[in-house]
Amino acid sequence: MVYSESGGVTKTTTAVSIAMIAAEQGKRTVLVDLDPRAASTKWLDVVPAGDGLHVGAILGDEDPQGWGEDLAVRTAWSENLRVIPSARNVSNREADRADHAELRLRTALEGISADLVIIDCPNRQGGPLTLSALNAADTIVYASTATSDGVDGVAGARRTVAQFHHSRERIGAPVTLTEAGIVCGGVRETIMSRPAVASIEELRETGMLLLPLVPERAIIQEVRLTGDWYGNFRKGAPVLGAYQAIVDQVIR
Ligand SMILES: Nc1ncnc2c1ncn2[C@@H]1O[C@H](COP(=O)(O)OP(=O)(O)O)[C@@H](O)[C@H]1O
Ligand SMILES: [Mg+2]
Repeated sequence: MVYSESGGVTKTTTAVSIAMIAAEQGKRTVLVDLDPRAASTKWLDVVPAGDGLHVGAILGDEDPQGWGEDLAVRTAWSENLRVIPSARNVSNREADRADHAELRLRTALEGISADLVIIDCPNRQGGPLTLSALNAADTIVYASTATSDGVDGVAGARRTVAQFHHSRERIGAPVTLTEAGIVCGGVRETIMSRPAVASIEELRETGMLLLPLVPERAIIQEVRLTGDWYGNFRKGAPVLGAYQAIVDQVIR
């Protein structure tokens, strides 16, 4: 899962990049868009296979077995990459407090024909959506920018993860969720501002900052509008190279 409790800190860019790079390496990959804003769904320009056939169908079903496979939609980017799309009304699921609802995503993904599943999380503090991801994931990648928002979002996310671990330990359940590290994206390399330098230093002090820092390139924003993969453009190469190096560190 790619997670932070701040918005605009490169979660979606990181999730989509890891998923696509893994797919290009030959791994059968499924990207789960768990954010009601549906940014990764829109970027990859995928439409649900039918009415209501988005991630909300998993979260709202008491018996979601097999749903992951059924909802995963093929993409034009790679034959190895499928997406479980999101939709606006997935945010209604935040009000769903049914017993064990937080285990539905995990159940839905069990046995899915994929080597890797990446979850693009919303920036919510805890809540059913985040809890669903925490229960389904085995690895967390935090996403941040070189800003105080980025640092705060990671700190909040780490507190939520620590609480999740405590609650699991209290009931004697095994904890298999590991923190792979923090990706720092969209970094302006040339003239770095004082707050940017200070934020990177704070991320470094956690001992979890993954290197290289991902550089800022305008093409990353441009491809969102055209539905393209930036890896197909020469201008995207520095960003692609950085995320490739990160994939080598976070995918076991
Ligand atoms: N390396 C980068 N260079 C330039 N812009 C970037 C880069 N990474 C992310 N962005 C832009 O920053 C904005 C926020 O990124 P996004 O991945 O959507 O964050 P989040 O999912 O945390 O809200 C988007 O407009 C995205 O295109
Ligand atoms: Mg996002």
